[in-house]
Amino acid sequence: MNIQRIGVLTGGGDCPGLNAVIRSVVKTAINEYQWEVLGIEDGFEGLIQPGKVRPMTPASVRGILARGGTILGTTNRADPFHYVVDVDGAQKTFDVSDDVIRHVQVLGIDALVVIGGDGSLRITHELIQKGLKAVGVPKTIDNDLECTNITFGFDTAVNTATEALDKLHTTAESHHRAIILEVMGRDAGWIALKAGIAGDADVILVPEIPYNVAAVLEKLHNRNRSGAKYSIIIAAEGARPENGETVYQAHHEVGAARRMGGVGEVLADQIRARSPIEVRVTVLGHLQRGGKPSSFDRLLATRYGAMAVHLIKEGQLGHMVALSDERIVAVPIADAIARQKLVPLDSDIIRAALGLEICLGHQREFVEQLAAHRAEPPA
Ligand code: F6P
Repeated sequence: MNIQRIGVLTGGGDCPGLNAVIRSVVKTAINEYQWEVLGIEDGFEGLIQPGKVRPMTPASVRGILARGGTILGTTNRADPFHYVVDVDGAQKTFDVSDDVIRHVQVLGIDALVVIGGDGSLRITHELIQKGLKAVGVPKTIDNDLECTNITFGFDTAVNTATEALDKLHTTAESHHRAIILEVMGRDAGWIALKAGIAGDADVILVPEIPYNVAAVLEKLHNRNRSGAKYSIIIAAEGARPENGETVYQAHHEVGAARRMGGVGEVLADQIRARSPIEVRVTVLGHLQRGGKPSSFDRLLATRYGAMAVHLIKEGQLGHMVALSDERIVAVPIADAIARQKLVPLDSDIIRAALGLEICLGHQREFVEQLAAHRAEPPA
């Protein structure tokens, strides 16, 4: 395929390492193949609205490797298939996907690099059905994309949550309290599980295991009886009590997904209602998304960006770069978005947590039964 000009955009929520991917895409495309690169601002919004495209050069990506956020800007409210427009004060939804395809042609973009999570890659996949030529780079702190060992941004988020747990340990111990740290991750418990183990949490609550308040309380009481007198709980925002619902925030922007949040306070109230234990809640929030990427994420993002460009050169359009056993490979975008990658309950990491007597929200036997049930091949 004869390529002269490519475009690059970042879509969905930001995460550490986006700039490292942009830098790698721009430098590799220019240095290796002498292509022109256009930066699209604010995700797909930049292909819907005019005047949001800029030429990228090695100078435009100088000094951004360690910088958090994205120099191109992003949004999680610009789905071209469901684009929300204010018409005389009323919010109306339109399908502007044909305009996006036309816009890409007018800009002379031969192929697009989309750096995004499941939402942006789903949009990309649908645009590919309409003729867009694109490759994907897996981004999200949630680590919930299939077909890759890991998404970039996740490692930094886990480090941030682990540091927060380290700090909460000292204050919880001083005051003989139980402290709950609520972390992001949507329907997947990856951040909570990995940071929880690395940060020595006593209780880890993930969406994959609906929690039982009595089991959590038993763990807290056992610690008090053993003389520990304080406890650390990490709860994924998507965790929910058994027979209960996922907790969402009241405020919801039009055109964006409902925002999770609040399970930490729900759990705190459940504990307070049943015991005299003093409880405090810390919601880590967007601290997990901001700031410098870890060295792991800088390297991964750089490798992903370079390989995305090579995939275009090799004609592997419609693919996403992925990490598989230490190698960067290409997988069909369709496979990556087919389902969410949740924490497998029969994994060694769950087993390690149980061996450390970490409470995973339920009695150990229940977790093991759930794991065995989920691991069963479909009939
Ligand atoms: O998908 C990334 C993520 O950070 C989730 O973990 C979280 O639920 C959501 O985005 C928050 O989105 P927003 O930035 O719109 O509040």
